[in-house]
Amino acid sequence: MIALGIEGTAHSIGVGIIKESQEKCRVLSNVIKTYQPKKGGIHPREAANHHATYLPGLISESLQTAGIDFQKIDLIAFSQGPGLGPCLRTAATAARALALSLDKPLMGVNHCVAHLEIGRGTVEGCTDPVLLYVSGANTQVIAFAEGRYRVFGETLDVGIGNCLDKFGRTLGMEFPCGPKIEQLARNGSSYLPLPYSMKGMDIAFSGLLTAAECHVQKKKPLEDVCFSLQETAFAMLTEVTERAMAHTEKQEVLLGGGVASNKRLREMVETMALARGAKFFVPSRDLCVDNGAMIAWLGLLMYQSGLRMRVEESVINQRFRTDMVEVTWRA
Ligand code: ATP
Ligand code: FE2
Repeated sequence: MIALGIEGTAHSIGVGIIKESQEKCRVLSNVIKTYQPKKGGIHPREAANHHATYLPGLISESLQTAGIDFQKIDLIAFSQGPGLGPCLRTAATAARALALSLDKPLMGVNHCVAHLEIGRGTVEGCTDPVLLYVSGANTQVIAFAEGRYRVFGETLDVGIGNCLDKFGRTLGMEFPCGPKIEQLARNGSSYLPLPYSMKGMDIAFSGLLTAAECHVQKKKPLEDVCFSLQETAFAMLTEVTERAMAHTEKQEVLLGGGVASNKRLREMVETMALARGAKFFVPSRDLCVDNGAMIAWLGLLMYQSGLRMRVEESVINQRFRTDMVEVTWRA
């Protein structure tokens, strides 16, 4: 089977085409266009307009790259949530129109679950991981238990990516700020105290953000502030992930989301995994960030497990929780 997936939860609009071969996911194409606000954060309506503008071109491009035409597509999948309403609606409307006009089945999928499944589908040896999903808006530790993907820990306020972006923005950096902060942090050496806020298995970043901004106001070297911000935030993430691994007795850890590109975060999580005798995995960068291929792959898994979705059931859900999905495609 071949599936086409449309991703549009936030600032990126992506189209991916995938094919199943021997229960693994082969990516035939995966094209993305990202909305860059001129200043400030994402304006949902503007992002949605951006998506509507680029989506038709991306669909043609993905078919061309995959070297197939519409007739070869067996399923149309889209990101049903969670995300920004106007963006989700744009992707969903396009998916419905495609499915109806081509007379192909439609499948709405949970974006967070897609981040996990693309790891299992494309990374050799990754079968039952604890996922540390770290992106702009999302920060969750997810693992499979008793028929669902359960959230073992998550942020109580902003996502780690948003925390980094907000910090960078106050310094006048352009979005995305994560990579620039990583660069500066490499030249930092002196640790400045910052709040380490964990509540049970959950974490909070807003106090950390304010405290980091205070260090900047006090004219502490920027490299040291970035270094301390990363060390503190990433240690919190690594700790929750380790606790989830200990609790579930899982022997694999998978990174996902745009912040998974960060070398220091990878190093910390890998060190933790190796110390536990567990395996560490990261999908390729184009499959870590928001992308259409992961949506297509999860849609296909769901469809093959026997699930069907009528157009009336394809309403988007801005607050679509990871653990709302009944996992019918694996044991
Ligand atoms: P979501 O998946 O929650 O809808 P998103 O679309 O913002 O959110 P991604 O595209 O997965 O998420 O990731 C974007 C985020 O990743 C930005 O916040 C950006 O600053 C961050 N990021 C990218 N590269 C790095 C890096 N090297 N270090 C830290 N953060 C990074
Ligand atoms: Fe994402």
